[in-house]
Amino acid sequence: MKSAIVASTFITSALAAAGAYQQCGGSGFSGETTCISGWTCTVLNQWYSQCLPGAATTSTTAVRTTLTTSTVAAGPTAPATPPGKFKWFGVNEAGAEFGQDTYPGLWGKHFTFPSNSAMQTLINQGYNTFRVGFAMERLAPTTLTGTFDAAYLRNLTESINYITNAGAYAVLDPHNFGRYFGKIITNVNDFKSFWTKLATQFVSNPRVIFDTNNEYHTMDQQLVFDLNQGAIDAIRATGATSQYIWVEGNAWSGAWTWISSGNGASLVNLRDPENKMIYEMHQYLDTDGSGTNEACVSTTIGTQRLQEATAWLRANKKLGVLGEFAGGANPTCQAAVKGLLDHLKANSDVWTGALWWAAGPWWGDYMYGFEPPSSTGYTYYNSLLRGYM
Ligand SMILES: *[C@@H]1O[C@H](CO)[C@@H](O)[C@H](O)[C@H]1NC(C)=O
Repeated sequence: MKSAIVASTFITSALAAAGAYQQCGGSGFSGETTCISGWTCTVLNQWYSQCLPGAATTSTTAVRTTLTTSTVAAGPTAPATPPGKFKWFGVNEAGAEFGQDTYPGLWGKHFTFPSNSAMQTLINQGYNTFRVGFAMERLAPTTLTGTFDAAYLRNLTESINYITNAGAYAVLDPHNFGRYFGKIITNVNDFKSFWTKLATQFVSNPRVIFDTNNEYHTMDQQLVFDLNQGAIDAIRATGATSQYIWVEGNAWSGAWTWISSGNGASLVNLRDPENKMIYEMHQYLDTDGSGTNEACVSTTIGTQRLQEATAWLRANKKLGVLGEFAGGANPTCQAAVKGLLDHLKANSDVWTGALWWAAGPWWGDYMYGFEPPSSTGYTYYNSLLRGYM
């Protein structure tokens, strides 16, 4: 809120220069690369430079920053993901899917949307990906083939647009576990109809990522395959061809059970005509891998639980993303999380990134909460995570 007010004050006085908190550089950016007086174009990551207050008090800083910016912006031959660098690194944003027993429920009571200022705090530190959970029952309140609720869609779209206008990636995450009103979705055509409507809304936003569904589980494996393939086909048919699609597996999409669950053998056959499909897996480090206990099994459990999935990705020439991971705020988990991230980074030829579970305005003192400025996970893990951008 504060930064929005400051921004509009300065934008009106800006003359052929990027305004306060505006984008001023980054791979693929073609706008103004200098900032208004008193603000400095600061490289936050490869894809995003932003005008931040004050830093340009000496000309040395300004010159160096300008050079860095133009190098980044003018690098058409630079690979999208340099070796050892994640394409996506960020957090889940929970809130719009809350109140899962109460549909549609009330905004502000049963569910809420991400906080723009909290997300901006993370973006300013280099987090570039936000996976925004929502409930299919609120977006499509009558049937999967029915019209979307305009107010819920508007609020969801505002969150997504905030993220992508800030230069980050927004993952649309129907947080539904392959279910709709508690029943397993068995009609693939209905599911395709839902995805046709959703993808149509975001067809022209290249920074949106489509996640077919959160954590299918306890379902027929062929159905999980068919729902994923149906979503891919429906999304591409809308003309949304530039965006990435993240597919998920059965068994809560666990990395550690990717092979034993049958996901590997089945989902290896998914086809995306645009070849922009990413296998999204999740991994927690407590005993049963459910992410419900703040204790981690050991300091090495993060690395151990990823090894099979890494080998599968590489053997099958696939790309993966760790869409959810977390650990409790204690030294054993910290070492385990570090091991997990080190493993992902060392294998960044097949792992494209990772997202912490989870930020969001309503976590209170939740053990993994990552909402700035004071959530448990954020205060304990932010400095560690920032080392992997
Ligand atoms: C959308 O957000 C506004 C506040 O910005 C709120 O008043 C409204 O109830 C929300 N509606 C839904 C359906 O989320």
